[in-house]
Amino acid sequence: MHNPFKLNLVHRPRRLRRTAALRALVEDTVLRPSDLIAPLFVIEGKGRPEPVASMPGVYRLSIRDLVRECRTLRKLGILAVALFPKLDSRLKDEDGTAALREDALILRAVQAVKRALPEMIVMTDIALDPYTVHGHDGVLTPDGRDVDNDRTVGILANMAVLHACAGVDLVAPSDMMDGRVGAIRRALDAAGREGTAIMAYTAKFASAYYGPFRDAVGSARAAGTRSLDKRTYQLNPANWREALTELALDEAEGADIMMVKPAGPYLDIIRELRGATRKPIAAYQVSGEYAQIHAAAKLGWLDLAPCRRESLTGIKRAGAGIILTYFAKEMAAELGRGGP
Ligand code: PBG
Repeated sequence: MHNPFKLNLVHRPRRLRRTAALRALVEDTVLRPSDLIAPLFVIEGKGRPEPVASMPGVYRLSIRDLVRECRTLRKLGILAVALFPKLDSRLKDEDGTAALREDALILRAVQAVKRALPEMIVMTDIALDPYTVHGHDGVLTPDGRDVDNDRTVGILANMAVLHACAGVDLVAPSDMMDGRVGAIRRALDAAGREGTAIMAYTAKFASAYYGPFRDAVGSARAAGTRSLDKRTYQLNPANWREALTELALDEAEGADIMMVKPAGPYLDIIRELRGATRKPIAAYQVSGEYAQIHAAAKLGWLDLAPCRRESLTGIKRAGAGIILTYFAKEMAAELGRGGP
């Protein structure tokens, strides 16, 4: 039949979208379980998993359950976990001194996971927010109006050494203090821990998307506000060149992996950093990004599994070879099944 609308086209991009096999053949970005790092929350005691209300499917785990969860993750092909402690509020103080206790919950959690699964990559945050009554990532200046950079860095360097000695593979300074990567590197080396790597939270923005995480570790409640103001140390969400400055500093100071956080609203930053270094780039799909997708799915407004996959594919496509995500387990399970 003659079609009067027949176009005389040389290029028809749809040719390569015709079948699933052709689409797979020309696919650029492929997610793998080994790209994903699962953040996990740990609590004291032997109690049952505590659900985090704003993060469906996320629980605070006792050390025993944490080890069990790590075994499940390994079986699904996840190679790395990032552990976050939730402290009893009685252990918190103005200076976060519990961060340097040799019997700290996080150290026992790291040791338990490493004992059960020596090949599991274990990463921990280096920052004081789970330990301070005010929820800031460092100790405050005498007038209480800002975080004291250099005093905080000294504490964080000691904290990193403790974590390294407990067996972590990667320490992840998430505090955004100036000079912390270099100070941590020197402290680790001086302690004979030159094999412990640093994943720097290089471009960590002062984001409103951290709200659910602060519920999970209880770092916002003491300050009595959900939106704890960290703008004197975390990056301004409006800036991108500053992220490149942070990248240059972290790389020069000896960071092994550089991270962007949050991920979804900062894909341009991921791309900038990917182009500016040969080191691995990671991105953290944070609690608020996770909560957002879950909330919409719960209302029946979005389809969870495809949105989960699309959000992670976008982050990898932008240039992050490593993604921290609360979807790690479900995403790995789906990838293992070969589809949704
Ligand atoms: C603490 C820290 C935060 C996150 C990771 N480490 C919160 C903050 O800076 O207030 C956020 C993670 C998330 O939202 O999933 N330094």
